[in-house]
Amino acid sequence: MNDQEFIPADLKNLASSGKASWKAPSNIALVKYWGKYPGQLPANPSLSFTLSSSATTTSVDFQKRKSEQKTPSFDLLFEGKPNKAFEPKIKIFLDRILPYTPWLSYYHLKINTSNSFPHSSGIASSASGMAALSLCITEMEKTLNQEMSEQQFYRKASFLSRLGSGSACRSIQGPLVSWGKHPQLSGSSDLYGTAFAGPVHEIFKDFRDTILLVHKGAKTVSSTAGHALMEGHPFATQRFVQANKNMSSLIEVLANGNMELFIQLVEGEALTLHAMMMSSTPSYLLMKPNTLAIIENIREFRKETGEPICFTLDAGANVHLLYPGKSAEKVLQFIKNELVVYCEKGQYICDEIGSGAEKL
Ligand code: PMV
Repeated sequence: MNDQEFIPADLKNLASSGKASWKAPSNIALVKYWGKYPGQLPANPSLSFTLSSSATTTSVDFQKRKSEQKTPSFDLLFEGKPNKAFEPKIKIFLDRILPYTPWLSYYHLKINTSNSFPHSSGIASSASGMAALSLCITEMEKTLNQEMSEQQFYRKASFLSRLGSGSACRSIQGPLVSWGKHPQLSGSSDLYGTAFAGPVHEIFKDFRDTILLVHKGAKTVSSTAGHALMEGHPFATQRFVQANKNMSSLIEVLANGNMELFIQLVEGEALTLHAMMMSSTPSYLLMKPNTLAIIENIREFRKETGEPICFTLDAGANVHLLYPGKSAEKVLQFIKNELVVYCEKGQYICDEIGSGAEKL
């Protein structure tokens, strides 16, 4: 498929109004996307667990205007209140998707959005936020174009959300989603995320992610700037080769449930992501001393108890602690006893693998 296929036929019968509401989850990558080409195309394939409770709920009221305008107009309520700070991001997003949703320029949008996780908790809401908004917009397009199949619907929502934030395209479906072409992932695409269709071992079906909130402030370097620093990065080519190889290994591990290899792979991916940041020019560090303290404690606990737990990191200081449901009791006790002291205000979020966005 190419991006031209996402341009809808000229929609003639535009409804005077419409409403769509969706709840979209966050996701956590096991093989990381880091580095991109123009048009938000990934430099390497990635694969993530869809989360369950960390989610954004968005509803959009569409009101037809008297005439077409150059760009769609909108009002934004975040957690019930107008939020000027988020408006530029939404405007850029709506302008970016307009070639693929030209009908939007006939509408005024009332966007009402909220997150399940605490505001400013250090959890990025761009993936779940862009996914929820894209689903609402695609839902409206489906109302205007009844011929859209379910597969086309999910692909389009993922395609649009990718234009808002790359990793958002993995927040539409679940429980495992890949994004980016890879020879062993049939149907994979750089344009949108695809639900992972390969065999998945029982152990991954009840996986947990406890997010240890180490630092709740804004990041010193945004993901956008970080991706850009992969251009001309001395290790970029090697990293992209490695990500492709890691994807092949992960596909095998997901099928056979080899936890030793899973842990090696997932922790390696997280540390490589941060190694890319540390070796960029200019170089930067998003991990904090408490991030490292948690990592060391996790490794120690694993060595002592043999529990198959591991960590991963996003582009930030927080630690995602991944473990199978059967280890939950012991791990939660370990978190309370040993890790909470490293969390800002003792905060952490208990989440688990989820099945994807929900229409409300
Ligand atoms: O979606 P972006 O542009 O915010 O990039 C996020 C990239 C990572 O979260 C660091 C990795 C990933 O694959 O989600």
